[in-house]
Amino acid sequence: MADAGTMYRDLASALEGLISGEPDAVANMANAAALIWETLPDVNWVGFYRNIGGELVLGPFQGRPACIRIPFGTGVCGVAAQSRQVQRVEDVNAFPGHIACDALSASEIVVPLVRDGELLGVLDIDSPKAARFSEEDETGVVKLAEILAKAL
Ligand code: SME
Repeated sequence: MADAGTMYRDLASALEGLISGEPDAVANMANAAALIWETLPDVNWVGFYRNIGGELVLGPFQGRPACIRIPFGTGVCGVAAQSRQVQRVEDVNAFPGHIACDALSASEIVVPLVRDGELLGVLDIDSPKAARFSEEDETGVVKLAEILAKAL
């Protein structure tokens, strides 16, 4: 397999291609979730929560059915939304208030989607492997979130 840097560069350019010229946010989130899902090894959930009136509401995703509404400040996604900081969690069971949608999830990364100072939602990726997401993954996923924030 290619190294992670190459994989994320290829993923970013595939994502740019997929969303290019398409203004529909749902279509772009759906294709982004599918692309990330089929590209990243060892993930069991990839998807979006949207900021609807100050609450996170489930958006397009791949994986098992998930919790529909998450208040800001609750769980990994809610903390990412409230703080607007990436949450890279090596052991979700040690994260206070973590919401277990799939008992198989062991680690998680959540990246806020911000455009022009507005929080649009978050991109959430879960893994059944502990400490699945490295700093290199964080750099790669943040880049994907920057591309996406322009297309939502
Ligand atoms: N684990 C998340 C909830 C969303 S699911 O993982 C899809 C959290 O604690 O915010």
